[in-house]
Amino acid sequence: MAATVESHIQSTAPFDVERVRRDFPILASEVRGRRLVYLDSAATAQRPQAVIDAVNRFYTSQNSNVHRGVHYLSEIATREFDDARLRIARFINAPETHEVIMTHGVTESINLVAHSYGARFISAGDEILLTTMEHHSNIVPWQLLAERTGAIIRQIPINERGEVRLDEYAKLLNPRVKMVGIVHISNALGTINPVKQMIAMAHEHSIPVLVDGAQAAPHLRVDVRDLDCDFYAFSGHKLCGPTGVGVLYGKTHWLEEMPPFLGGGDMILSVSFEKTIFNSLPWKFEAGTPDIAGVIGMGAAVDYLTAIGLDRIAAWEKELLDYATLRVGSIAGVRLIGTAQEKAGVLSFVMDDVHPHDIGTILDQEGVAIRAGHHCAQPVMKFFGLPATARASLAFYNTREEIDILATAIERVREVFAA
Ligand code: ALA
Repeated sequence: MAATVESHIQSTAPFDVERVRRDFPILASEVRGRRLVYLDSAATAQRPQAVIDAVNRFYTSQNSNVHRGVHYLSEIATREFDDARLRIARFINAPETHEVIMTHGVTESINLVAHSYGARFISAGDEILLTTMEHHSNIVPWQLLAERTGAIIRQIPINERGEVRLDEYAKLLNPRVKMVGIVHISNALGTINPVKQMIAMAHEHSIPVLVDGAQAAPHLRVDVRDLDCDFYAFSGHKLCGPTGVGVLYGKTHWLEEMPPFLGGGDMILSVSFEKTIFNSLPWKFEAGTPDIAGVIGMGAAVDYLTAIGLDRIAAWEKELLDYATLRVGSIAGVRLIGTAQEKAGVLSFVMDDVHPHDIGTILDQEGVAIRAGHHCAQPVMKFFGLPATARASLAFYNTREEIDILATAIERVREVFAA
């Protein structure tokens, strides 16, 4: 039987990965006649039974719209939805619940800021700084804004290990810069960026900072107060919640000054053809019926992760990463891409004379799921002179035994291509 969220609460026992795995029904599956070894959690994490149950419960016995009805079910749905926002706010230590905006994911969160902050604060000749290792979702929205406004995007360079060059970053900060965008953990390299330090450096010049936390929120403790970031974006599905929901945290004073992103129901106080008055935060940025079940599911996901403990999760994943780096990095012909000193559970690699897609296909035959491609981070691929990498990405439900299976499968790739 699957363990419950409660069974993990305030656990001080050593991390028990086999117990955790029992919470994830899909991990017991077989694919292609082999036990599934799921090493693609950076693309999307698997869901524990507690999240599946929360979504199921909503549609089975609570389904109704929020913030609209006066009837019983609508009251329950509204309470569950609002309560999920509260718990998600606590999860990132947001000072105010109204600073937590529900979106459809990181991509929408960043588009919201680029569009709305951009409309109010960015004009021709202004500069936006982005690291070379950003995901496309933290590049393209800014390019669209630059096209509209005549703003200029500048790259914060990285070094050969895949770390931000802080000396170069310091030189780029100047009064024309109106936004810095930084990925907290690179999805392609695993680098954990020194975001707190980078935010402090930007703030010395009164420049706001947006952090893309898609890969960080599931893997380390995020405290937006401690980071002092102006915006922080993350998605539900990377932290074991449903797809199609996410969060934008923003400091009140920015959100207050930014115009709405999308117009429609729920984001207004009153509408007339003469004048529309917008709703207060957070609803000003939440037009239309939200993904209610998704948000409730995301609330269940943060409860689940909190019960296990983000520090224990980070420690286990670090142990796995160190082991995987040793095992995979010592296979002849394998080159690891992204060797930052501060790194999370992403192992990007290439092999002599083998295309990453072929690596992915052969590993799949062994039941091992990885991602191969440019990982929606083409500028960083270009920096390393590569079109693509193979990428194994870890989560707290992975085991050392799975790393052994990965390493054996990579050896098999070598044999196939040597034949
Ligand atoms: N951004 C996701 C990844 O890294 C989809 O795979």
